[in-house]
This record gives sequence, structure tokens and C-alpha cells, in this order.
Amino acid sequence: MKIGIVVGTRPEIIKMAPVIRECQKRLLPFFIIHSNQHYSEEMDKIFFEELQLPTQDYNLNVGSGLHSNQTGNILIKMEPILVKEKPDVVLVQGDTNTVLAGALAASKLNIKVGHIEAGLRSYDRMMPEETNRILTDHISDFLFAVGPAQEAILIDEGISNNKIYAVGNTVSDSLFQHLEISQNNSSILESLKLDKGEYFLITAHRASNVDIKSHLEELLVLLTHLHQHFFKPIVWPIHPRTVSKLKEFDLKVPDFLLLTPPIGYFDFIQLQQHAKLILTDSGGIQEEACLLGVPCITLRENTERPESVNVGANVLVGRNKELALNAMKKWMDDENYSWENPFGDGKVAGRIISILEKSLLPQSEDIIP
Ligand code: UD1
Ligand code: UDP
Repeated sequence: MKIGIVVGTRPEIIKMAPVIRECQKRLLPFFIIHSNQHYSEEMDKIFFEELQLPTQDYNLNVGSGLHSNQTGNILIKMEPILVKEKPDVVLVQGDTNTVLAGALAASKLNIKVGHIEAGLRSYDRMMPEETNRILTDHISDFLFAVGPAQEAILIDEGISNNKIYAVGNTVSDSLFQHLEISQNNSSILESLKLDKGEYFLITAHRASNVDIKSHLEELLVLLTHLHQHFFKPIVWPIHPRTVSKLKEFDLKVPDFLLLTPPIGYFDFIQLQQHAKLILTDSGGIQEEACLLGVPCITLRENTERPESVNVGANVLVGRNKELALNAMKKWMDDENYSWENPFGDGKVAGRIISILEKSLLPQSEDIIP
């Protein structure tokens, strides 16, 4: 069984790492195609290095671009590689343009597709990722759903039960595998002069928040409002998309915000673990905050990850400063919070590879002597 593994962006590298490790552990033949949708060193190379991943066998060098351009380029560049390599299955993870293009390229060649993190739905078709998720799910042969709720969504959409496997989220594998390493290797709190539990962490990069000037302004107003109430440092490792939009709109970030470039995974785990509270529009960070027991305020009106809201770890506030303030006050006043972990047990990659082995490797009873 030969596996083609596709990655393209920061979260895909992080969440695919445990799957790559599992292939290495079981000595399964695999190759990695990196679209290079993310290419800046701090969005790309740092994760291959920290997670000690093998260098990618193929780099498509697509870089940034409009959606169709980026997706189309990946498709075009991926096809000859898949024709040459002839994998038994191509694995994609998540909901980026790389995921859709990777799945489509394989599907057109009748190569089986495995979608890791299948069945997530925000029901917001303005979100480019929602289209990517739906299309990818509907052309996949193995749908590795995060849990029973996503399994039910997929069945409801008419996808055969036989293709769906509720396995958990590989975000848990990656986090559990690196928590201790990050504790021993990161000095980010010292570098930024932060005390444990005495700062807030924010990230924002969703098109709906940063691509429209008035929305980005609203976010800055929201942060100013929170700062005026709590006077705690607010750290913002800022995504390159947001940097470029701030420049384009000529918006100045208030001085009280502690801006940093995007940081490595180990440092970022530590920043999350010791934050008093996290504000984000990221998918992966909603999950990691929940796994780490840190309250999360999601700067969106919907989420494809309602589990963290349902267990009481996450509140959706959009860009509404009063909703954000109320949610924060609740957590600042009551420190006795805890919740169940809905995102996996850290053994998800093993499950995924076992399912593929069982389905694609000839079983001993199938071999006729
Ligand atoms: C992409 C994904 C999003 C995911 C996010 C993870 C899509 C549609 N979006 O969004 O789902 O949550 O990655 O971070 O696939 N840029 C750089 N260096 C880089 C990458 C991007 O400077 O390495 C800048 C460029 O100005 C670029 C912009 O960021 O135009 C946006 O990059 P892009 O990959 O299109 O989308 P993301 O916002 O990163
Ligand atoms: N992350 C990181 N450094 C940062 C910001 C995020 O290592 O400066 C990690 C974070 O721990 C999580 C992932 O990147 O695993 C989330 O990526 P992002 O928010 O870009 O994408 P999303 O999950 O929204 O698709």
C-alpha cells in the first residue's frame, strides 16, 4: 500500500505530522506533496523542522493567489506526480484550497481519497473553506470524521455509511506528542516578558474578519475595549494575511497590543497553555484551547467545531465587543472551569492508518494459495 500525503498550510503540516509518523513507524511506503500554499519560513519550514518531518518529495511552489488560480495550479501540478507515483490512496487534511485540489486531482485519476477531519460544517457558504469541505467530502472514499456528530452530518448528506469512520482529530495526537517537548524547549514567556495566566492571546486571519476594512477596524475596537477593562497584556502572533490587510487599509495597531510574527508550534503551545484566555478565529486554535483547558472566545458568528461550545469551553462573539467582554468577565470571575475533551485521545493517526491497511492491504484470508 502506497500513500500520497498532501499538505499546503501551517495547520495541515501540524495535523498531518502524526499520520506521517505513523507511516514511518509501520514502514509503509509514502510520499509527501507540499503545495507551498504557505511558503514564508515562519508559516512552513519551521514546522517541518520542529516536527522533524521528512523533507517533502514534491514541492509545487504555488504560493499565494486568487482562489481559482491557486486551486487550479495545484491541480495541474499534482496530476503528473500522481500518474507517476500511482499511490493507492491520497490523504488530505482539513479544508484549504490545497485539500480540495489534492482530493480532486486524485479523484479524477480514480485514486482513492482519504479526507482527514471530514464532516465539519459551518453552514456558512461565504466561507471559502465550507465549499472546500463539502466538495472534498463528497469525492472522498475514506471520510475520517472527528466524531459521531460529523458522521451524522455526512450520512444526512447522502454519503454512504461504509465510507465514514469516526476516529477523532489528529490535532490531539500532535498536541499530546509535543506538549512536554514544548514545555522543555520553549522560552517564549520569558522572551515576551509574560507571566503565566496574566495575559490574553489573540489570533485572527479569517477572510471575513480581515479582508474587509470595517471588520478589521471592529476587531481593533473590540481589543481596545477589552484592554480598557482588564489591563492585561494581549499577545498577537499575527498571520501574514492580516499584516498585508493592515498595510493595505492603512490601519495602525494600537500600542498596547504585543505583536509578534507567527511563531513556531512549540512556542505557540506554551503561549496557549499559559494564556488566561484565547481570542481567535482559527479552527485549530479553538480545538487546542479546548484540549489545553483554556477558555476560548471565537471571533466568528458560527463555527464548524460546535463541540467546544457545547462542552462550555468556547463562546462565539463575532466582532461584538460587548459579547466578548461579557464572555471574558464570566471566565475572569469564575476560575473553576473544566470540561470534557471532545477532540480525540491522541491515538487518531494510528486508527486512520489501521483502517487504510485493513481496506487496502491484501488480507491473509484473501490470498488464495
Ligand atoms: C489559508 C486557508 C485557511 C487556513 C489558513 C491557515 C484557504 C482558502 N485558506 O488561509 O483555511 O485557515 O490558510 O493559516 O485555503 N501569506 C504569506 N506567506 C505565506 C502564506 C500567506 O505572506 O506563507 C500571505 C499572502 O499575502 C497571501 C495571504 O497571506 O495572499 C493569504 O494566504 P492564503 O494561503 O491565500 O490564505 P490564508 O489566509 O493563509
Ligand atoms: N500556530 C502556530 N503558531 C502561530 C499560530 C498558530 O504554531 O503563530 C498553530 C496552532 O497551534 C494550530 C495551527 O497553527 O495548530 C492553527 O493554524 P491556523 O490558525 O493558521 O489555521 P486554522 O486552524 O484556522 O486553519
